Amino acid sequence: MKATITLLPGDGIGPEVMAEARKLLEAVATRYEHEFTLDEALIGGAAIDATSDPLPPATIEKCERADAVLLGAVGGPKWSDPNAKVRPEQGLLKLRATLGVYANLRPVVPHPVAAKHAPLKPELLEGVDLLFVRELTGGAYFGEKGREQNGQVAFDVARYSVSEVERVTRRAAQLARGRRKKITHVDKANVLETSRLWRSVVTRVLSEEFPDIAFEHVLVDAMTMHLLHRPASFDVILTENLFGDILTDEASVLAGSMGLLPSASIGDGKSGLYEPIHGSAPDIAGQGIANPYATLLSVALLLRHSLGLEAEAQAVENAVSQALDAGVLTRDLSATGAVSTTQAGQWVCERLRDSA
Ligand code: IPM
Ligand code: MG
Repeated sequence: MKATITLLPGDGIGPEVMAEARKLLEAVATRYEHEFTLDEALIGGAAIDATSDPLPPATIEKCERADAVLLGAVGGPKWSDPNAKVRPEQGLLKLRATLGVYANLRPVVPHPVAAKHAPLKPELLEGVDLLFVRELTGGAYFGEKGREQNGQVAFDVARYSVSEVERVTRRAAQLARGRRKKITHVDKANVLETSRLWRSVVTRVLSEEFPDIAFEHVLVDAMTMHLLHRPASFDVILTENLFGDILTDEASVLAGSMGLLPSASIGDGKSGLYEPIHGSAPDIAGQGIANPYATLLSVALLLRHSLGLEAEAQAVENAVSQALDAGVLTRDLSATGAVSTTQAGQWVCERLRDSA
């Protein structure tokens, strides 16, 4: 097939992990006889430096016409002055809103090798297979923000509409149908009005339209404990934007390293935005030691969700899993004998080329 994929390397380790993703996409194209046009564009701090805009119009245009977008990471100390008017993160948030990618899928399936690095008892990690569905274009991230009383008071309004909750709930339910058919909806309905709206909409949509899906509502504070005490008891976890941001960082601990977790952000169309859940890691940027696997696994999600290439997606996931089995580990997963970002990427590409 022919597809155009826009690559947004961004900041920090973003360009390093993106270089490996580019090679992997090229390897997939060769191995499976596809024609991928890979088109690079600026975002985040790199875009601020070049154009003063964290999401320049040229980038929006390239992303809108692409079949899918792959992002490295944005942000870094250079641009994090709290008084700065423009911030790298604004570029990413505006891109999510512009592309209308309201459902952020974050699978967490600990690999046995990486699980050794998790601080939890190994028996707690047995059978853990989670899919977070985080609402991505609403809530406090996108509500009105500001300062009052000479800057002495600040506010971020959290706002949700019925239709915003309906569409992401339907998406979570469709995904749950392909899994263990269970949704845990996480909220703070004992305090927040938005959570009470979520609770009633989730209950109605699931009971009327998806009677085959079992569901429960869990308060977010309790959920942070359940995720560590009994992670294997959950399947699909559906939640609003800010809770989803926090819970998925917590859940990454189950997988042993943030460097292993991919994400897919999708809307109503086929196109989507794919990115590792980790950030730009300025502390290790430029050293060639970042773990590229989260980005390579994001390539797999891109192949699956935006291009409909299931066999190719599985081949990429298998190659990464085999790399972990074979002990091809970057420094986050190996104190001694760690491989470089490039060596890890190379190993996965070679395995994919040789795959039957
Ligand atoms: C994430 C990140 C972003 C978010 C930041 C970089 C804006 O933490 O994708 O989880 O908060 O959504
Ligand atoms: Mg986050």
